[in-house]
Amino acid sequence: MIQICASLLAADYARLGEEVNRAEKAGVDSFHFDMMDGHYVQNLALTPDHMKALRSYSNLQFHAHLELDNPDDILFNFAAMQADTIIVQWNTLTDPLRIFEKIRSQNIRIGLGLTPDDALDTISRFFREIDLLLILGVYPGFGGQSIQPGTSEKIRSARKIVDQIDNRPDIAVDGGVKLENAADLVRAGADILIMGTALFQSSNMAETVKAVRESIVESQSH
Ligand code: DX5
Ligand code: ZN
Repeated sequence: MIQICASLLAADYARLGEEVNRAEKAGVDSFHFDMMDGHYVQNLALTPDHMKALRSYSNLQFHAHLELDNPDDILFNFAAMQADTIIVQWNTLTDPLRIFEKIRSQNIRIGLGLTPDDALDTISRFFREIDLLLILGVYPGFGGQSIQPGTSEKIRSARKIVDQIDNRPDIAVDGGVKLENAADLVRAGADILIMGTALFQSSNMAETVKAVRESIVESQSH
């Protein structure tokens, strides 16, 4: 079952609670919170406090995507916010196993994010330690970018590696995902489509979610 995860970076920040309700009603499966520090990326975005404030608006899973330089320093925040998954970026980690253990010890699922420049081969030995592999389709920092060429191929390669693992992590794709490329990304091996602009800027989010699901079914029947 393919999941559609709504990235709140693209939501209307003046009405975040309503945006969560709107997305849930439109049929999304989970929520994605980009947390940015203005240093790892040239942007600031959501914080653990936003997650905490929005927790009562939905029972769907909340993913925190830490696009920041010091994940170690802020991890303590997340158990109380009830993050279901914490995604750390590969190129911010000094000791991957130690941070995974810290996340696991809070009963939170472990996600590992790769930028378009992070090659799979050096990192794949860690895939058996994680619950979610997030492949960024764009350079992190901003919503509304076009997906980088080569993203589908990278997902296809990741799928091959992941399928050899007993407790295989889900594969998510984040950045530049839209109706026009969703089926291709799923065909390549994505389990979770993280979508910001394509959902929140669409005139009818429920129609967009439905169209994405139909495009996937349609492409699977061929
Ligand atoms: C990029 C973020 C993405 C972003 C996706 O730094 O990690 O989650 O919100 O936004 P869209 O779907 O607009 O590309
Ligand atoms: Zn993200």
